[in-house]
Amino acid sequence: MNNLSAVDQSSMLNEVVSGLSREQKQLPSKYFYDQHGSDLFEQITYLDEYYLTDCEKEILKENIKEIADYIGSNVMLIELGSGNSYKTRFLLEELSELSTYIPVDISEEYLLKTANQLRIEYPRISIIPVFADYTSQFDLPVSDSSNQKQVVFFPGSTIGNFSPEEAKAFIDNIATITTNDAEMLVGVDLKKDKAILEAAYNDREGVTEAFNKNMLKHINRKLGANFDTKKFSHNAFYNEDAGRVEMHLVSTEEQTVSIGDTIFQFDEGESIHTENSYKYSLNDFEELVSKWYSVEKVWTDKQGYFSLQYLKKK
Ligand code: TRP
Repeated sequence: MNNLSAVDQSSMLNEVVSGLSREQKQLPSKYFYDQHGSDLFEQITYLDEYYLTDCEKEILKENIKEIADYIGSNVMLIELGSGNSYKTRFLLEELSELSTYIPVDISEEYLLKTANQLRIEYPRISIIPVFADYTSQFDLPVSDSSNQKQVVFFPGSTIGNFSPEEAKAFIDNIATITTNDAEMLVGVDLKKDKAILEAAYNDREGVTEAFNKNMLKHINRKLGANFDTKKFSHNAFYNEDAGRVEMHLVSTEEQTVSIGDTIFQFDEGESIHTENSYKYSLNDFEELVSKWYSVEKVWTDKQGYFSLQYLKKK
């Protein structure tokens, strides 16, 4: 996952101060991912309660022949974020006719390490890392053959971490920077029973709690702030009206925290909103992308918790 080598300290300070100055205090979720945060996130994906990763792997495994048929041959596979995971290797393994793999990530160091490793493991695939923030405009490498098709792979329901408005801006951006016949394979978590959703973000081992609180430690370290993580508790719940799991850090007492020259006051019970994870119905998602893409195929796991969707441009 991403780390912050590309983000400088002054923009971090501005974003943190402005988020904490709001009526509902908030912090940008990208600050979860320092080295320790990335490690904790990986641990989240192995938790029993965290069904998303298992479901997505199950869908890939069960339907790989059909997925490979949709993807086709002479393809440039563009993966947004990461590139180190089991899922990527599974696809590179199975797509025997893949010609080019483009991992896109905001962490340059991580990206280059991954790319070098994949070049050794898959010498038949041309691996071209692109160091970029995929929520902004970026350039993709030019195809080496005229009939190469671009397929964007965006797994993990990362699209659910955008608000619907942000998700549309993201889709618009991707549709703009890819070719007219480009396609997309996207992982989308689905609406389901509240208890299952809430358990996924409140694991018994407390890994998600540690992950959430690590953001405060990261801010302490990078900006010299003095958050006391013992005075904040993890709260994750499904907001049914908004259709999203929200993660918060709740101040367990009245306190002040200083960041640079700025002092923030917290009431007992006051929260910092750190993340959203939107859950979609199949209809909601089709509607969300409908200006740019049509949904050609939806695969789900046996329980119908998670979906992988194949999109084509309209
Ligand atoms: N996109 C996944 C999800 O929403 C992974 C993720 C992003 C996540 N931020 C998170 C998981 C914070 C737990 C906590 O579930």
